[in-house]
Amino acid sequence: MTRLENRMITVERVLEYTKQKQENKGGLVIEHWPKGCEIRFKDVSLSYKSDQDHVLKHLNFAIKNKEKVAIVGRTGSGKTSLISTLVRLYDFEGNIFIDNVDIKTLPVDFLRTKISVVPQEPTIFSGTLRENIDPTRQHSDDDIWKAISTVNLSLFQNLDEKIDMNLSICQKQLICVCRALVQRNKIVIFDECNATVDNDTEALIQKVISEIFAEYTVIAIMHKLRYILDFDLVLVVDKGVIIESGDPASLLKKKNGMLSNLFERQ
Ligand SMILES: Nc1ncnc2c1ncn2[C@@H]1O[C@H](COP(=O)(O)OP(=O)(O)OP(=O)(O)O)[C@@H](O)[C@H]1O
Ligand SMILES: [Mg+2]
Repeated sequence: MTRLENRMITVERVLEYTKQKQENKGGLVIEHWPKGCEIRFKDVSLSYKSDQDHVLKHLNFAIKNKEKVAIVGRTGSGKTSLISTLVRLYDFEGNIFIDNVDIKTLPVDFLRTKISVVPQEPTIFSGTLRENIDPTRQHSDDDIWKAISTVNLSLFQNLDEKIDMNLSICQKQLICVCRALVQRNKIVIFDECNATVDNDTEALIQKVISEIFAEYTVIAIMHKLRYILDFDLVLVVDKGVIIESGDPASLLKKKNGMLSNLFERQ
């Protein structure tokens, strides 16, 4: 009886999901978009509940094509919320333009196929290595092996090997990086994936950002600031506002600057 009751929770959950408000999937697909990857935020604000304060407040900034951008700030400052607007996880006020197209005019599914996200918590599915790296079966074995060797994941012999769910957090994170590598999207987002990994994995991920993704626009939320000088632009977020932005070397020189404060504290 107990087991049955336990299992019924999954059914309950599925039923709950069917009652969720559906996202608006309408919009216009644009072929060969995006060509370049300038990103422009115009007066973007976000609140999770209508009766609560905004967690992002009137953000205005631009990111150039192929730029490597680090987003830093204290916990709860709005970093993850900021990047979630790029894939339209929530309805926000204002506009975001990618390659001069307002992303609100695109079908949300289409938009999400164009942006790769390596999330804060690495998500692994029960299944094979191939299903984890290329769940929609779009890429060749060669491409998948290339990605695996780029991140030095040497413990697999076969793409149809079942994934061991007890992989270490670093190994899981590297599988998520492989997923982004094979997608070859022009925009790649990393959410604090250097927070929980060891030094070697952190260095490897940084190398992927600077070298392998050199031709792409990368936005990375950085928890540790050791590699901050490798970025072209740093945005410091505090209470939903960008309070400092610029190239890391100049920001670090600023006395009592927010970035230099955060840097010194680490
Ligand atoms: N899904 C949500 N629903 C309601 N409130 C949320 C949701 N996600 C985040 N918040 C709130 O929004 C604010 C910003 O959170 P966010 O996760 O963007 O911060 P963060 O800078 O990414 O923090 P961390 O460094 O801990 O990951 C916080 O006050 C948080 O409690
Ligand atoms: Mg976060």
